[in-house]
Amino acid sequence: MEIAWWWRDFVFAWWILFPAYAANMFPTLARGRRPIDFGRNFSDGRRIFGDGKTWEGLGFGVLMGALIGALEMALAPGLNEYAAQYGLALPEMNLFVAFMIALGALTGDLAGSFLKRRMGMERGADAPLLDQLNFIVGATVFAYLFTSITPGMILFMLVVTPAIHRAACIAGYKLGVKKVPW
Ligand code: CTP
Ligand code: MG
Repeated sequence: MEIAWWWRDFVFAWWILFPAYAANMFPTLARGRRPIDFGRNFSDGRRIFGDGKTWEGLGFGVLMGALIGALEMALAPGLNEYAAQYGLALPEMNLFVAFMIALGALTGDLAGSFLKRRMGMERGADAPLLDQLNFIVGATVFAYLFTSITPGMILFMLVVTPAIHRAACIAGYKLGVKKVPW
């Protein structure tokens, strides 16, 4: 049986998105105190990353991203048995790949904060699209390097993410785990 490429890519995109989302969302719960930039300023006199990027957050994010990857590894044989009926196989997932997707997400997040500080935005300021896409772009680049990912998957990740991110942030705000609804 044949399956449409866009449907395959939409479903497969979640394979990369879940570890990336875990890496992006769990740092909020880490209650980190040690800034990655050690409180230092850049040459423009503003913080390099700011107090919103901590070692605890980075560590917890990578750990949880890898954990979601491990969960996917456990599900992979069953899912691939099903996918094989359509002549498909999920992108390779192992602990190294999951670790790299999570690290990519957090690297993208750091790059986003770096850009925000350079634009004079305070920690926590709303940067539409940049805030939603920074970790996805980072995860995509690392996923591209370490597992198989198609242009269609990249497209879905970039398009569906801002909408879902927005909804998740509002949910986090209402649950009281985030101070602002973005
Ligand atoms: N966080 C962390 N370490 C990271 C990433 C996030 O400790 N590497 C925590 C911080 O408490 C942060 C919260 O998760 O405030 C939400 O993350 P994010 O929205 O990315 O940071 P902001 O506080 O909005 O800072 P920025 O303006 O730099 O994006
Ligand atoms: Mg923020």
